[in-house]
Amino acid sequence: MKTKSVSKDAWGSRVGLILAMAGNAVGLGNFLRFPVQAVQNGGGAFILPYIVCFLIMGIPLLLIEWSSGRYGGKFNNHSTPYIMDGLGKSNVWKYVGVFGIFTNVAVVAYYTYIESWTLSYILHSLLGTFEGMSQGEVAGFFSSYTDISSSTTGIPYEAVLFYLLVLGLNVFILSRGLGGIEKVAKIGMPLLILFGLILAAKGLTMGESGKSELFPDASALDGLNFLWTPQFDSLLSPKVWLAAAGQIFFTLSVGLGTIQCYAAYIEANEDIALNAVSAGFLNEFVEVVLGSSIVIPIAAGYLGLDWVMENAGFGMAFQTMPFLFQQWGEAMAAFSGVLWFGLLFFAGITSSLAMGTPWMGFMKDEFGWGKSKGALSFGLLALIMGLPTVLFYQQGVFDEYDYWAGTVSLVVFALLESILFSWVFGINKGWREINEGSDIHIPTIYKYIIKYITPFLLLIIFSGALVTPQDNEWAENFSRLSMGESWQLDNNSIIRQLFHSGLKQELSATKSPISKTMLE
Ligand code: PHE
Repeated sequence: MKTKSVSKDAWGSRVGLILAMAGNAVGLGNFLRFPVQAVQNGGGAFILPYIVCFLIMGIPLLLIEWSSGRYGGKFNNHSTPYIMDGLGKSNVWKYVGVFGIFTNVAVVAYYTYIESWTLSYILHSLLGTFEGMSQGEVAGFFSSYTDISSSTTGIPYEAVLFYLLVLGLNVFILSRGLGGIEKVAKIGMPLLILFGLILAAKGLTMGESGKSELFPDASALDGLNFLWTPQFDSLLSPKVWLAAAGQIFFTLSVGLGTIQCYAAYIEANEDIALNAVSAGFLNEFVEVVLGSSIVIPIAAGYLGLDWVMENAGFGMAFQTMPFLFQQWGEAMAAFSGVLWFGLLFFAGITSSLAMGTPWMGFMKDEFGWGKSKGALSFGLLALIMGLPTVLFYQQGVFDEYDYWAGTVSLVVFALLESILFSWVFGINKGWREINEGSDIHIPTIYKYIIKYITPFLLLIIFSGALVTPQDNEWAENFSRLSMGESWQLDNNSIIRQLFHSGLKQELSATKSPISKTMLE
């Protein structure tokens, strides 16, 4: 175990720490990914597996990551490779940590691209660019924005410019150290919640006021009911479980090492049990309450639930929302656009900053690099990794990044770190670390969940994703296997994805979903 004598950095206050950690978790995933996952997996059918995954995988992984990080900090380790090396007894863990760092760089590469859209859309909302546009035109604006060769948004190479701007902003804040991150979280998180509450109030009170001749069945309430009517039969669908688990990892930011790196700067006697649980629940409030009260009810309120179910996709936030805001009149449209994209911007930046810390910590632990050098090198790396997503967005490069870095890698890393914590470091020592200095008592059952259930479920989820059978027909495939026939892999299985590039399929999937509608 290495101890170094680098000047000690620390979080300014407990509130700052919780807001920074919540900012890390609360991200684009809460507002863009959650509603889409929920709709695509049957609305109320998604909620139960989602809550179960939060309790038996999310909370345990949060506790593992917070306590591993604080433990590493005691030895002056601030990056996942060093923290994991300190917990394990073999060098292998250091490489697992390095793998985690590259996952961060890959996620940040496309994540900051979305972040840059939000900044540009704030500007366009203020400029009134979307005024008088039909829905087709608003969707078309997005397509031309992301197709940088034919940009007709009024600003040449706008997508690239805003991307560089956002990357530069991240580098600048990171170079100010923890203080910079804390300040952004202290400003950004309260504003985000305020903006979210205002928009959610609209979503929750819209009722059937958005009905039109074209969409006589439109009702915001249908959207809410669809999301909130639990359906118990979903508990038997592996596909829904996979989606729910994937969303929990992504939204809580577990499986990348960002939490460990933030936690490495916590004082040894600080209560991590309470902090971890508070930050986790704050994220869930923002996701489940605010995340489900904006896009879906507002879109269902104007376009009807059927439209939402058919078109639910990540692009809705940019392709549909600016059009819907126009229905509230010019001034309200500009105001709501600023709230919505401002909210997304704060959600995004407090998370992308977190993704910079593992790399910076590693450069510090390994080479003694300071903040400026660490932040700059991170920015450069993110730029190299990110440019392909910007330049070839329409060819589906973006989705490849999201799949490999934002989905598969998180599960792999989480599986490995839970084995490291419970079985290599040892659950007894681990449990002591979790509870040291804590005011609240985590129920002892969690000791067993962390040791047995979390790694076991992660293993199942990973194997399930590796060999997903065609159309998710598990029972059918098992019976086919028992009759001596072969296992039919689905195109979405990791094995299939590994062997033939999904780019071509992605190409068709990235086409604007709006083009199907006749709202011209
Ligand atoms: N949790 C963030 C979100 O919901 C994404 C994220 C993942 C951030 C991993 C940091 C690390 O958008």
